[in-house]
Amino acid sequence: MVPLVKTNIPSKEELMPFLEKILYSGYVAQGEQVDCFEKDFNRYIGGNHSLSLNSGTSALHIALILAGVEEGSEVISTALTAEPTNVAIKMVGAKIRYADIDIDTGSICPQSITENINANTKAIMVVDYAGIPVNVPEIQKISKKYDLPVIHDAAHSLGAKFNGQKTGNHFSYTVFSFQAIKHLTTIDGGMLQITSKEEFEKAKLIRWFGIDKKLTRLENNIRFQGYKYHMNNVNAAIGLVQLKSIEKIIDIYIDNGKFYDAELQNIAGLNLLNYYPGSEPSYWLYTLLVENKEDFIRKLSEGGIMASELHKRNDRHDYLNDFNQKLPRLDRFYDKMVHIPCGWWVDNEIRERIVNTIKQGW
Ligand SMILES: Cc1ncc(COP(=O)(O)O)c(C=O)c1O
Repeated sequence: MVPLVKTNIPSKEELMPFLEKILYSGYVAQGEQVDCFEKDFNRYIGGNHSLSLNSGTSALHIALILAGVEEGSEVISTALTAEPTNVAIKMVGAKIRYADIDIDTGSICPQSITENINANTKAIMVVDYAGIPVNVPEIQKISKKYDLPVIHDAAHSLGAKFNGQKTGNHFSYTVFSFQAIKHLTTIDGGMLQITSKEEFEKAKLIRWFGIDKKLTRLENNIRFQGYKYHMNNVNAAIGLVQLKSIEKIIDIYIDNGKFYDAELQNIAGLNLLNYYPGSEPSYWLYTLLVENKEDFIRKLSEGGIMASELHKRNDRHDYLNDFNQKLPRLDRFYDKMVHIPCGWWVDNEIRERIVNTIKQGW
């Protein structure tokens, strides 16, 4: 079965000598390798400040704290995402107010964001779902007009671009995940890109109990709540090796995505997504809208190809459904939404087999 997602670990020859060296170096906690990983990642993204963490969820949590979201706040978000996006909002005691999506992209709808802003709104959470960039220019305008910080959940969109600039440079906070099945994995890990240097310095304290690593314990004086969210040298070492080939890996996702964009046009019962002008997706998954979704999934499964929705829309979890809102465009989209494999393990033979199977009908 061709899987929908798959972990990419560099070859033994590439990874093990370096990993072994770090494992037996006598220093496996947060140290030099973590600093190097942050530096190299920052060079790859091309701007802002990079704070490495033990998960993307920790990055979301710290972003929400920096954005001033707290008990009684509301955050405008999308229900079309993985659960951590919205669970993180609940971690700071805030409520989730969902905006609807743009029907032809699946991304959060800027107009719907505006309609949902109220006196309690403290931040906007946007997600590049499946690797497709959100409408960056319109969301930047809303952020500026209403003076609301944007948290960009880019767990699926490492390497995507908008107007030529990589994701990680568009909003005050951008969250990346290096969990097992992402474009880049450190086994588990995350990165928070922060625009403000001052907030970056504060975030360093939040990630480690509120303690300043530059001072001795006796010189320290904890002034606010911190957490144990740092990355360690072992995970960072894996990340450093992965970073060396990340352009090549992401290019395979993009090449496969563009292949499907070209080959799956004009098929009865199937619609492709639109992308916002200026955006360049990194296609973590390839998303389709199909009639008779169950039959489509069965047909592909019979051909040895995995296809599915992967995620449950988040408003269907009682705990993540604070306001029981109507989301009519998401209803229509989710009824038809299905993902097909698109990543580094999909070679020319597999992608052609996927296209031919779909063209046979379902
Ligand atoms: C959209 C999205 N946001 C956030 C996360 C959280 O990342 P992590 O698993 O690294 O905590 C994930 C995935 O796991 C995700 O898919």
